[in-house]
Amino acid sequence: MAQKMTGMRTKLSALGELLKISEAEFTAFMSTYGALFVDSPESTKTDYESHIKLQGYKQGSSPELEQYYRIISLLCTLGSVEKMYMPPVMDPKKSVMENQVLLEEKMAKDLDVTKDAKILEIGCGCGAIARSMAEITGAHLYGFNIDKSQIEKAWRDLALEPSNFTVGDFNKPFNFPDDTFDAVYAIQPMTYISDLEFTLKEIFRVLKPGGKFGFNDVAALDNYDRENHSHRLLIQHTRELTAFGGFWYYKFWEDAFKEAGFELLKSEGYSAVENIKKEVALYGRFETIFSFLTSIRILPRKIFLLIRRMHANSESYIKAEELELISLNWYAVMSKPK
Ligand SMILES: C[S@@+](CC[C@H](N)C(=O)[O-])C[C@H]1O[C@@H](n2cnc3c(N)ncnc32)[C@H](O)[C@@H]1O
Repeated sequence: MAQKMTGMRTKLSALGELLKISEAEFTAFMSTYGALFVDSPESTKTDYESHIKLQGYKQGSSPELEQYYRIISLLCTLGSVEKMYMPPVMDPKKSVMENQVLLEEKMAKDLDVTKDAKILEIGCGCGAIARSMAEITGAHLYGFNIDKSQIEKAWRDLALEPSNFTVGDFNKPFNFPDDTFDAVYAIQPMTYISDLEFTLKEIFRVLKPGGKFGFNDVAALDNYDRENHSHRLLIQHTRELTAFGGFWYYKFWEDAFKEAGFELLKSEGYSAVENIKKEVALYGRFETIFSFLTSIRILPRKIFLLIRRMHANSESYIKAEELELISLNWYAVMSKPK
């Protein structure tokens, strides 16, 4: 009950923040789609087999990305995805949020840390995943994120140590000495990396020898054919809906982990289809409700337009996962040799 009340307060607070958005911020947000998600780099299976080098995501530290996340984090909080990731289907009978926790439990088990361990989250959102990981492991959680507004929310979270959460960019040198953390993890922020080799080496550097890195992020699968117009369209729609940056074949990821010095322990893809269907249905209901509240002038039209933009073409994401063109949950665990 208390948890439900906190969840409702968080959603109302997000709605309150959305109501404060100015016309200029609204327009700036809408134009981020063109700046961030058109012409994004792709490195597919064909590229891999032709030995074409992976292309990083150039806009991974841009003001447009920060602007996008300031607003999208509020829109995500209205639904089940305050944690801003679509989890794999760990248990089809459970909700999206419960599936997130199941993934986090799996990650915690694979990171294999003790109670007094130090764990770093890369691109930590508002700290909601870190809060859950702290509850699961009893360890000390740290995190950094490029968007200050999300870090400010982490600072207000009583379950987290505010000084452990900072504004930071994973495309720049990490603000930690060598061999600091027992474990590092990243859940769906890493497609914004501009130079994969650089960022993975930074993760490797701040991990203690024997420490583990847990990764769960977007990967292109064997079936994706860039020359197929319908595949390209499905992926473009999925990109705009789920806001990933670079689209990289899973073997590019695996090679990059190994090249940074890691020993790869696990690497496998999971489907999220049943979870996506639940979330798409929820935002469909929001669209109807917000459209009605706009028509009777209870809410300004911009809130409805934001929801509609965010939710557009969501059926394509379901189709892209069903056809196994993409997984938003390529899951890998690796260790820094002792
Ligand atoms: C799709 S969300 C992933 C979910 C996230 N792990 C969470 O806790 O909400 C991507 C996150 O990466 C952050 N991010 C994007 N680019 C970044 C960068 N260059 N450095 C650090 N964080 C970044 C975004 O602000 C956002 O919080």
